[in-house]
Amino acid sequence: MDKTYYVTTPIYYVNASPHIGHAYTTILADVLARYHKSSGYRTFFMTGTDEHGDKIAEAAQRAGVDPKAYADGISAQFRALWPELKVDHDYFIRTTDENHVRVVQMILQRVYDAGDIYFGHYEGYYCVGCERFYMEKELVDGLCPDHQCEPEHRKESNYFFRMSKYQDWLIEHIEKNPSFIRPERYRNEALAFLRGPLEDLCISRPKSRLTWGITLPFDEDYVTYVWFDALINYITGIGYPDGENFRTFWPVAEHLIAKDILKPHGIYWPTMLKAAGIEPYRHLNVHGYWNVDQSKMSKSLGNVIKPLDLKDKYGLDAFRYFLLRDMVFGLDSSFSEEGFVQRVNADLANDLGNLISRVMAMAIKYFDGRVPSPGAPAEEDREFSASARRALREVEACFRELALHKALIAIWEFVNGTNKYIVTSEPWNLAKDPGLQDRLATVIYNLLEALRCIAVFIAPFMPGTAEKVLSHLGITDAAKEDLSTLEEWGGLPPGNVLQKIPALFPRIEYKKEDAMEAQAKAAPAFKPEITYEDFDKIDLRIARVLEAEPVPKSSKLLKLKIDLGEDRVIVAGMGKDYKPEEIVGKTIVVVANLKPTKLMGVESRGMLLATDAADGLALITADRPPLTGAKVR
Ligand code: ME8
Repeated sequence: MDKTYYVTTPIYYVNASPHIGHAYTTILADVLARYHKSSGYRTFFMTGTDEHGDKIAEAAQRAGVDPKAYADGISAQFRALWPELKVDHDYFIRTTDENHVRVVQMILQRVYDAGDIYFGHYEGYYCVGCERFYMEKELVDGLCPDHQCEPEHRKESNYFFRMSKYQDWLIEHIEKNPSFIRPERYRNEALAFLRGPLEDLCISRPKSRLTWGITLPFDEDYVTYVWFDALINYITGIGYPDGENFRTFWPVAEHLIAKDILKPHGIYWPTMLKAAGIEPYRHLNVHGYWNVDQSKMSKSLGNVIKPLDLKDKYGLDAFRYFLLRDMVFGLDSSFSEEGFVQRVNADLANDLGNLISRVMAMAIKYFDGRVPSPGAPAEEDREFSASARRALREVEACFRELALHKALIAIWEFVNGTNKYIVTSEPWNLAKDPGLQDRLATVIYNLLEALRCIAVFIAPFMPGTAEKVLSHLGITDAAKEDLSTLEEWGGLPPGNVLQKIPALFPRIEYKKEDAMEAQAKAAPAFKPEITYEDFDKIDLRIARVLEAEPVPKSSKLLKLKIDLGEDRVIVAGMGKDYKPEEIVGKTIVVVANLKPTKLMGVESRGMLLATDAADGLALITADRPPLTGAKVR
């Protein structure tokens, strides 16, 4: 039977532009697809955009355009980004595609006819950010645990999917197939969730509330709820029900997601498939979150990392390498520009870049720009070539368990082994002795062959670098990146013409102060003009901090008691920059008429003003002692 491989990313919401998190999952999928292709698999790789639902309708309304026009714009941003990151997907699906809409309706009708969709009444807490209802016990201090905002209480008549009916089947399926959800921590999380009774899933919205969705085929007045529409993309995109691709690729489906959407993918989706009479996917592969400088990435914190900024500044292959090398699959990872530069300088500029330049320069110098013919191998040569095959076995094992950072570590062991081979065989000394030219030819041949192996190893991760190295070694055939070419030492043809290679990864000079300055310059664009009357609506006051204490379970929120003519409590996200005792006694500026909001269970009646300083956040204050409660004009 053909070896086949199908990999998917989540389809991304079109309510925000792509960031490093989306880039990670999609580049990971690309690396897996490229690796499988070069291992002889027929592959299909799909990504796309998720375009219906409240969240998108709200974003479109804020932007003052209709939802389809809004979705078209952001979907196009995603679509344009992937080729820039050398993401080579086979299909880009949109949930507004006609074919997708038709198949979703067909499946809804089928499940409805089978009696697994019914009409009922629902009352619950709805988080628009998550696009789902929460049970009271799932909320933390009354807030959505993911978005830390108060969910809306909603009461509606709606259609429900009889998910509860499939609970026992799903538990059994997960237990019988230990790698169905992986790594294990997420399998355990799904099983833990299934230990309680599984409730039925609300799958519709009345059109009176939301029209931006797919109309239910059995009730014109309702549209489907986000997940019943979105999850089905994984099969509509490969031609369900009778497309050739569906038959070929569905049995080997590998979904990639982050931990945020474990529940829809680990619980809703398999039960939906079961109800529709479709086999479950093969694996759900769940990765952790990219944080930024140890904090969650968010628009409001202004710390969203844009993939193209990094690519433009440091080069695409450095960016791809960093993402795959610095995240242990399944765990969270923290991005910092400093860490990025250190990684690139150590692994790419020092280890890899220097090796490539050195070997190419020696080979061109000693053998007049051609690959020499090797003589009989010595013991150390045999050991060296065997280490390439060992690395191959290790890389294969790592890919099987998605431990791609370990695959890179194994490849770098071989890179460093090659550097050691140079040191021990001392080609510069061999070159001086006319009697040792055969030995020199063998050593240089082995070094060039090692570069070929390294290029093949790194090709899925860093396709541009691999291509450059191979073409400078005079290798251009179609199968040049096949992993099978690593089984036998000696794939590089003697006599090939070598070309001088430019430095692939110049060392990066990184100064924190420069980065801070650049960041300040890259401050958000000025907002649209407002009138004096608009400004006057904001009641800014001087206040004095009377007491401060950390908010329990929060790493950065401080609860402040302030005096602004009256005593009030506000919550401020300054805990990383100020200790409670440092902030007590300070004079601050507060937005006094901001609608109260609850943060981690504490009601905040106002917001203090702060700005970015070179080493974190700084409070805005007055330069002479002002009057408490005075208006800021
Ligand atoms: O959830 N770190 O779309 P979405 C790592 N439309 N990965 C991250 C990340 C981070 N900080 N932030 C986002 C949706 N991601 C639904 C999916 S699928 C049928 C429907 C990545 O735009 C990660 O892959 O919110 C995560 O699962 C996904 O983006 C969520 O994307």
